[in-house]
Amino acid sequence: MNASISSLARNGETLTAVWAGGERTDLPYLWLRDNCGCGECRVEQTTEKRFHLFRVPNDLKPSTVAIEGAGSEDEVIAIAWPDGHRTRYRSSEIHRLLSPSHPDLQYWDGRFQPQRFGYGPFLANDSAAMEAIEEFLRTGVCVLVDAPTEPDSLEELATRLGPIREVLFERIHNVMLDPKGYNIAHTDLAVGAHNDFTSYTWPPSVQALHMLVNECEGGESTVVDGFALLDELRRDHPDEFDVLCRVPVPSRIFSEAYECYAANPMVALDTEGEVRMLRFNTAQMQAIPLSEPRLTEFYAAYHELSRRVNDPAAEVSFRLEGGQILLCAGHRVLHGRKALRSHGHRHLQDAYYEHDNVRNHLRVLRRAGGI
Ligand SMILES: [Fe+2]
Ligand SMILES: [Zn+2]
Repeated sequence: MNASISSLARNGETLTAVWAGGERTDLPYLWLRDNCGCGECRVEQTTEKRFHLFRVPNDLKPSTVAIEGAGSEDEVIAIAWPDGHRTRYRSSEIHRLLSPSHPDLQYWDGRFQPQRFGYGPFLANDSAAMEAIEEFLRTGVCVLVDAPTEPDSLEELATRLGPIREVLFERIHNVMLDPKGYNIAHTDLAVGAHNDFTSYTWPPSVQALHMLVNECEGGESTVVDGFALLDELRRDHPDEFDVLCRVPVPSRIFSEAYECYAANPMVALDTEGEVRMLRFNTAQMQAIPLSEPRLTEFYAAYHELSRRVNDPAAEVSFRLEGGQILLCAGHRVLHGRKALRSHGHRHLQDAYYEHDNVRNHLRVLRRAGGI
């Protein structure tokens, strides 16, 4: 589609642009006024908006509209408003805003293996970091290898992943055999695929699992692509999928000192109906109140989801050695662990970050690289 406008027509509350290729775009007058980029409407130092919409009437209409420099790269839509204010947009600027950008997601099943990236280059080299972050955003998982084995090294990842998202219990959690532990991961039992802290209304959206030392037999790490499962479940059983989006499920983790509880549906959608979050944590799930009118339907749907999450065909497993860090997109990828078969020394640390910060760090890297 050519970023040049062949005509503009006023239509009720919008300006209709017809592009050189014949496509039409409606530009609401209030949108055109609100996004004005002039020095009066913006804080020049920061580009933040100074203009407040209430300052114009809600039935605002332009006095005049014109195309200047038609057909050139500098083509501009020039608008004059009744109060004398003037707004100018490059046609190319409007053209860039035509379609929302969708994340490029790649779903996977048990045949997949997470890609591995060197820890040192990830921290030191921008192009290595970009490659790893792009893969992480696409698949929701990757492994950093040749990482330090000193406790609390996860602090270093903040330069790439953004600040640590602190939650209750510990800033950097320690997972090892502990008869007093507050969590199933502190036992030698298998830990089924789950995501952490479903007991927060906004669970941490990135998790780093850092193996410091692993001298145990067994205890292989497992990951499952929650978005891939939900995509199939939605196609096969749309009604069951819908119930999982609607019934709040209480989730709780606690110790003597702390209490962490929230009730939310297992599946959250974005405004376009795409899956934004899966919450699945069997160990921390609490009884749903019997007053829930969709309880029977929920249990049929939950049974189906539980079967799919635990299907060996969906599970990827690998051994996480000392000096390796598994990164998971916490709202998408479920992680778990097979049972420990011997009680050798095993010490894992995990910490959380936020997906927005990782995604936006990639933008900073691309900007710096002129991409
Ligand atoms: Fe976990
Ligand atoms: Zn302005």
